[in-house]
Amino acid sequence: MKDFMYSYPTKVYFGDGAAKKALQKELAGTGKTIMLAYGGGSVKKNGVYDEISRYLKEAGKDIVDFSGIMPNPTYKKVQEGAALAREKGVSFILALGGGSVIDCCKIIAAQAVTEKDIWKMEFEDHVYPTEYLPMGAVVTASGTGAEMNNGAVITNEDTNQKAGVLGAHANFAILDVGYTMSLPAKQVISGAFDTLSHSMETYLGSPRDINLSDEIGEAVMRNVIRNIRVLLKDMNNKEARTELMWASAMAENGILKIGKVTDFQAHQIEHQLGAYTDCNHGQGLAVIHPVLYRHMYKDGVKQFARLAEKVWEVPAEGKTQEELAEAGVQALADFVKEIGLPSTFTEMGLTDQSVLQKVADTCNLTAGCCKKFTREEILQILVECWE
Ligand code: NZQ
Ligand code: ZN
Repeated sequence: MKDFMYSYPTKVYFGDGAAKKALQKELAGTGKTIMLAYGGGSVKKNGVYDEISRYLKEAGKDIVDFSGIMPNPTYKKVQEGAALAREKGVSFILALGGGSVIDCCKIIAAQAVTEKDIWKMEFEDHVYPTEYLPMGAVVTASGTGAEMNNGAVITNEDTNQKAGVLGAHANFAILDVGYTMSLPAKQVISGAFDTLSHSMETYLGSPRDINLSDEIGEAVMRNVIRNIRVLLKDMNNKEARTELMWASAMAENGILKIGKVTDFQAHQIEHQLGAYTDCNHGQGLAVIHPVLYRHMYKDGVKQFARLAEKVWEVPAEGKTQEELAEAGVQALADFVKEIGLPSTFTEMGLTDQSVLQKVADTCNLTAGCCKKFTREEILQILVECWE
């Protein structure tokens, strides 16, 4: 196990009525002007915006609306939010949404307090922000776990990069499954697959011998698989949605990563696919994972075999370790089909095959996994993802 220091800056308020409790307690000393940031309007339709604004008004706060944060948020949107925060003298940012809104706010929080350009600072000067406007997150779509970390995935349209930018941790996160019940079924499933992906990409990092973090990871993955299956029969099953909401946070609150170097090669590929196509994150991952793992399992047979047995419940009897590992990858591919996610980029609706070369040329290559891929191999994987 790698040495570590663990502490966590984000308080979690989980369950029915969490927002009222959290906002009463946490906003007491935050100043008067709150930026209420949200996406394309789902929070206005489902009543979440009205409920949260009411709590803010009851607490005597002034609200600055910042709307229109798009899925796969852009760096331009970050700049717009930061300019508004400065202009209005915002003292606290409350993100109301899924991963996209929360991520955008993490970087607005950093950009609003500095004249320097955050993108240039992080990617050219390798200097990371240390000061932020404080923020909180009200989760309306779970899966990314964005409420539990300070990494924000932002698309820079000028450079064609969708990249992880470091920003603020939310001081607190509000997880009330009631706020997510209006989410379309497709997004519920792709979000849950994202959680599974985070857990797998953590599990398949190093060290490769079984350890406590991985055993907890196995439990999270089994939980996600089981609860997605419950939802296939009853999408409104609140208990299953609640479990998935906590699993999503668990996969990104650092616990599964303790003592580990994570892999995240599938994510790196998907992010660049997103930069060029604006595709749905969970759907992209669903296509990439099985293909990537077919190219990877032979270099990590022990880990893949354990994943097959402990998570996919593939019987080990009569199989070599390599056969078991391969059967686990097949179980993942079958699961993607079972839950109605796409298995190819064409099923996702992509039409321009020329993006594959661009993605292969520009995605980050990670070092934490059992196999370090070359760009030629990534291109081959992407081609196999096509159809
Ligand atoms: O914009 P609105 O109208 O709110 O609609 C959104 C959006 O269209 C809708 N939605 C959200 N809550 C809803 C709802 N619709 C009805 N009822 C509700 N309660 O859902 C759509 C998708 O929202 P989005 O926030 O984009 O989805 P998700 O949570 O999957 O976030 C995806 C983004 O997070 C990044 C992804 O790359 C992508 O940009 N990720 C962030 C991570 C992190 N910070 O740790 C890790 C992930 O690996 C991921 O990369
Ligand atoms: Zn993800």
